[in-house]
Amino acid sequence: MNAEINLAEKLGQKLPPQLVDFLQLAGRKAADRREKAYIVGGVVRDLLLGLDNYDIDLTVEGDAVALARYLMGSASDRITIHKQFNTAKIRWHDWNIDFVTARSETYASPGALPEITPSTLEADLKRRDFTINAMAIGLSGKSYGMLYDPCNGKRDLADKKIRILHDASFIDDSTRIWRGLRYEQRFGFELEPHTLQLLQRDIPMLDAISGERICYEIDCIFKEQYPEKVFKRADRLGVLNRFHPGVKFDMHTEERFSQARERCCPDSPSTLLYWLLLTYDLDIETKEAMISRLRLPKLIAQPLRDCSAVKDRLSLLAAPEIKPGEIYHLLFGYSLQAVLANIIATETEESRAALCLYMEKLHGVKAIITGSDLLEMGVTQGPLLKKMLDAILDARLNGKASSREDEIAIVRKMQAEGSK
Ligand code: CTP
Repeated sequence: MNAEINLAEKLGQKLPPQLVDFLQLAGRKAADRREKAYIVGGVVRDLLLGLDNYDIDLTVEGDAVALARYLMGSASDRITIHKQFNTAKIRWHDWNIDFVTARSETYASPGALPEITPSTLEADLKRRDFTINAMAIGLSGKSYGMLYDPCNGKRDLADKKIRILHDASFIDDSTRIWRGLRYEQRFGFELEPHTLQLLQRDIPMLDAISGERICYEIDCIFKEQYPEKVFKRADRLGVLNRFHPGVKFDMHTEERFSQARERCCPDSPSTLLYWLLLTYDLDIETKEAMISRLRLPKLIAQPLRDCSAVKDRLSLLAAPEIKPGEIYHLLFGYSLQAVLANIIATETEESRAALCLYMEKLHGVKAIITGSDLLEMGVTQGPLLKKMLDAILDARLNGKASSREDEIAIVRKMQAEGSK
């Protein structure tokens, strides 16, 4: 395999010194065991692009788990081993480093997870998704810093091309369709023509992928700086419709994504907020079908439903002179991210103002007096007690009570009225 370019200096310049120390140690420990360790995948790609990436994946020609154990010695509390996948994760200062044994993969059927056999670095690189992700840097002995690039990934980086490694790549694993679009848009690259042709041919294969894996890819897109670029491209190519029939990515959704970033700045919008905005225009039946087809977890499914419920209340929220207490009762119990999605997407200023008031102020309003206080004050358990608690809360929300004394006065008044 060609190994003529040495990136040792670049590693030293681009990675934090403690991480470089770790990589050198890993290389030496691997050599002690007559094994070889390499950095692979995204970090190599990003190092060549001059981008920061400390998400280190190490591939070991040998036994990755045994090497990780040997390396950490008595500090075994900093290793997590996944027996099922025969991989190890080491915590080193602020970083996680993954150790995986070099392997080749065979796919029993499209969409299934691959069967894995230990193998060489070259076979390991050749089983990967794209040429730009199929490079490695040696860490052991004389190979320290050497670039291994059997698929010409460096050339494709320079030419800004996304290229698969063999014609069945998208059939073996069609999540690569989403990954390809993500890298293309992240780096401003292009799918090279043959790869694009195969991607389009294999779009139907996406139906064989489990909901869980699709959701993982969608979440990865939401973590990009500009997810809308990926969805626009996916829509044009007919990939988005395979995510779920009826999902479209139009100008409105694009505008909502950018508004979400403005509203959440300096943080990034949560992936949940993007889920809600991507599906905002779908009716509840289509959302329910999507929830069950993709087996969306409750943490996403419930806010998706909440978002529709809040949307149904928008005209009520826009009523003239609506009281804060009414706004509260219309929205209480719904996910705040669903409220935020509606703030971003609604076209009426009045409903937006009501949603903002709820989000910024009302949802956190609480009475000082509790049910047990009322019992101590002689109120008996039952409907009156509940009525009193509601009245106190409404007085708080509507600015009619601002202290414990105000609340007690409301209770006394209701007690007096009740005894008449
Ligand atoms: N990979 C693959 N096929 C997939 C997923 C991953 O071949 N369906 C390989 C690629 O070589 C990739 C590596 O596994 O580089 C690690 O995957 P991942 O962590 O998802 O991506 P990164 O390359 O680290 O890129 P990023 O996180 O920046 O998207």
